Amino acid sequence: MADAIYSPDVVVVGGGVAGLTVALNLAPRKVCIITKSSLGINTSSSWAQGGIAAAVSKDDSNESHIQDTLRTAVGLANSDAIEKVINNAKNTIADLESYGVNFDKNKDGSFNLGLEGAHSHNRIIRSKGDSSGLEIMRGLIENVIQSEHITVLENVSIDNIMTDQNKIYGVIGRFTDKNVPNNNVVIESTHVVLATGGLGGLYANTTNPRSSYGEGIALASQAGAILTDMEFIQFHPTGLDFGLDPTPLATEAIRGEGAYLVNQHKERFMLGTHPANELAPRDLIAQSIFNQIERGNSVFLDCRHIGKNFNTRFPQVSSYCKKADLDPELDLLPILPVAHYHIGGVKTNLKGQTSVEGLWCCGEVAATGIHGANRLASNSLLESLVFAKIVAKEINKKDIDSKINISSGFIKIFKEKTKNKIRAKKYIWQLRSSMMRNLGIVRNKDTIIRGLNDVLKIERESKGLSAKLNDMLLVCKFIIISAYLRKESRGCHLRSDYKDTNKDLIKHFDLKYSDIDYYIKTILETDRSKFDEKLVS
Ligand code: SIN
Repeated sequence: MADAIYSPDVVVVGGGVAGLTVALNLAPRKVCIITKSSLGINTSSSWAQGGIAAAVSKDDSNESHIQDTLRTAVGLANSDAIEKVINNAKNTIADLESYGVNFDKNKDGSFNLGLEGAHSHNRIIRSKGDSSGLEIMRGLIENVIQSEHITVLENVSIDNIMTDQNKIYGVIGRFTDKNVPNNNVVIESTHVVLATGGLGGLYANTTNPRSSYGEGIALASQAGAILTDMEFIQFHPTGLDFGLDPTPLATEAIRGEGAYLVNQHKERFMLGTHPANELAPRDLIAQSIFNQIERGNSVFLDCRHIGKNFNTRFPQVSSYCKKADLDPELDLLPILPVAHYHIGGVKTNLKGQTSVEGLWCCGEVAATGIHGANRLASNSLLESLVFAKIVAKEINKKDIDSKINISSGFIKIFKEKTKNKIRAKKYIWQLRSSMMRNLGIVRNKDTIIRGLNDVLKIERESKGLSAKLNDMLLVCKFIIISAYLRKESRGCHLRSDYKDTNKDLIKHFDLKYSDIDYYIKTILETDRSKFDEKLVS
């Protein structure tokens, strides 16, 4: 039996921008926000260096922003979702200002707008240069703390979503703080919002917190929700190669101010590959850097010529460089491409509803359709904020069933705790390295099969060792199956064995938990000779 049972009107899992915004907009409904760490810690939102894309300058328009987003999405975007998000950009900025969030402004009071790749105008609204995420989170957290309708349960990890006949009854989990004895917790509610972030933590090189390993995707899929577009993982071209895990980011805005990409021979290798050179779409730059590295070259960001006061214009990047004993005004900064953003996830409609009644998603865990096969920089904070508000509005229209009687059957399904942390860590590292090597920037059938081989082997050897590892393996399988099925290159999914975009594949691969065995069996049977014998027998 659980030690603590809570019964709010709505449970929000995740304390990033999406989770906090949905909670604030649910007033006066009683909301419980669940976060894995302390509020504001270990969320990608706080680390966001870009900003919020919004067409606010005189020469810009929502139509132009919509066109840039559609072009970048390479045929797979949902134009209704794009219009919904972009047409709400100005209101969203106004909402944030009403929460006390400060944005960078010029002397005349207009926004000091940055430029990022594949945007045809300067339209990135930022805070303190590269500290937008921190500032937005500060404003939201201050409001959450003052909101009587919100309870925050910190240091709680969710094990399961309780469902019965495709309907939600709440979540169960545990306090991760070792000092809480008998730490199981049950939170009953007929509305659960997942705002758990992305899955970069499945990759050896990522800008995401390591705790972002697709937990929301694992939870939702086990609750029966449909996933989509799992193969589309966006790699950011300029992680700072300082040997750290996670990898610190060097924001694209630095290239927006004129920084170059060079190799050790001082060649600007992006010149001539795309009219926008270093501001080409992210996937092209990540792929060019990948090719440079494959050829044995080292790659650097050259900021030396872009003017003084780098440390006040980009304080986060400066502080990372300082720790690595590098000065961006004098030194070349070593870089590598890193897993940055997951475009796919739990499939939602334009209300943020999933295929399971009472289960809602917003933020990076949700696949709303706005990014298609590739995300335009700084569209994701905007998407999170707009859809979080929509989800809250939709839940506010619903009746809340407060008479939930959880049978003891539900409460039996607490996951087992990690049995051996050191062994689990070894497997987690093997898995992350394999995903980077085999399901990274460039994939092909052989690497995808190697990735699946590794996943199945780790699963067999580590059986039951760690709930986190099991979730990671599950999410990797969804990525692998989708990458196998998409026999083309499109957006951020690049296959060296199918280099072209195929017009017959302007479609999405939807997957359910119950599909996994079928697909894996089919891949094993089709390519029997490429798997370890033990795995196919
Ligand atoms: C960046 O600052 O380069 C990241 C922005 C984003 O990923 O949207």
